[in-house]
Amino acid sequence: MNQTAKSISDRMKGRDWLMTQDWSDAEIELALDTAVQLKKEFKAGITSLHLPHKTIFLIFFDKSTRTRNSFEAGITQLGGHAHFVDSETSQIAHGESPKDMGIILSSYGHGIAIRHDLVPGEGQSYMREVARWAKVPVINMQCDVDHPCQTLADLMTIREEFGKDLRDLKIAVSWAYAPSYVKPMSVPQGLIMLMTRLGMNVTLAHPPEYTLMDEPMRLARDNALLSGSSFEVVDNMEDAIADADIVYPKSWGVESLYGQPEEAMKVAQQYRSWICDEAMMARAKEKAIYMHCLPADRGCEVTDSVIDGPQSRVYPEAENRMHTAKALMALTM
Ligand code: CP
Repeated sequence: MNQTAKSISDRMKGRDWLMTQDWSDAEIELALDTAVQLKKEFKAGITSLHLPHKTIFLIFFDKSTRTRNSFEAGITQLGGHAHFVDSETSQIAHGESPKDMGIILSSYGHGIAIRHDLVPGEGQSYMREVARWAKVPVINMQCDVDHPCQTLADLMTIREEFGKDLRDLKIAVSWAYAPSYVKPMSVPQGLIMLMTRLGMNVTLAHPPEYTLMDEPMRLARDNALLSGSSFEVVDNMEDAIADADIVYPKSWGVESLYGQPEEAMKVAQQYRSWICDEAMMARAKEKAIYMHCLPADRGCEVTDSVIDGPQSRVYPEAENRMHTAKALMALTM
């Protein structure tokens, strides 16, 4: 076996990864190919030191398991190092500006990644302001609008299952009930924007209060027109999942109620029946897969029998978060 890591393209060096929509189809293809290469090398025990001694700053305004650890493990495997920056224990909490964060952290290292996902209207703007001043690439680890690291890993997982040509597959992106916390809107928004680009037929389902933001909805409609796929919105999980190839039910919040968790949960309580159970999965195609970005509220968003069942791909999906994070860092930093 050849034990030497293959080289990585340098044509994306210095580029930000703020929304999947910012990258062309060819650039997304390059990111996926790079992730596949890095995954193979990782599994084969081949050391892939593409970023020796390089530093990435990971700024978090919210909690994380997968995102933080996939970036930290990923940069270590690439030969670099991550600094964890908590918004609550850094000077961000005293109002330090995104301009200062961009300029100062750029002067210390080689990349900045940010999670700022819980305040509609703030996260994407904050990242774009950091990126305006930063001299290093800025990566979106989840904002109010998009979660491009998640949806890239989702795409990789879907391709592992169905191959590269995804035209005419149906993906059901449905709201589901979760009492643990008010989850961001960025995953369903990211999914409808990205999957419509690839020719997949996307059906979005949600109760009336859970509309998504205007811009991702507009982009999803435009992308579907361009790719010749369909994008439809229904008001129940059953219709969305009927004949689907990919079933992706998860919770998100009411846009006007972020910051008011008690009010938000009162609304959600009306829709406790929005759970993905075996009867719901039976409406999908026989070979359909179940996906969730995690963390999932077991017993509320999904039953154990589905998330632990043979159709579930949640663990390969979570694993692919690291391979895609490594690809994004190795390509841009
Ligand atoms: N899916 C996801 O982004 O997981 P974390 O919130 O744990 O990072």
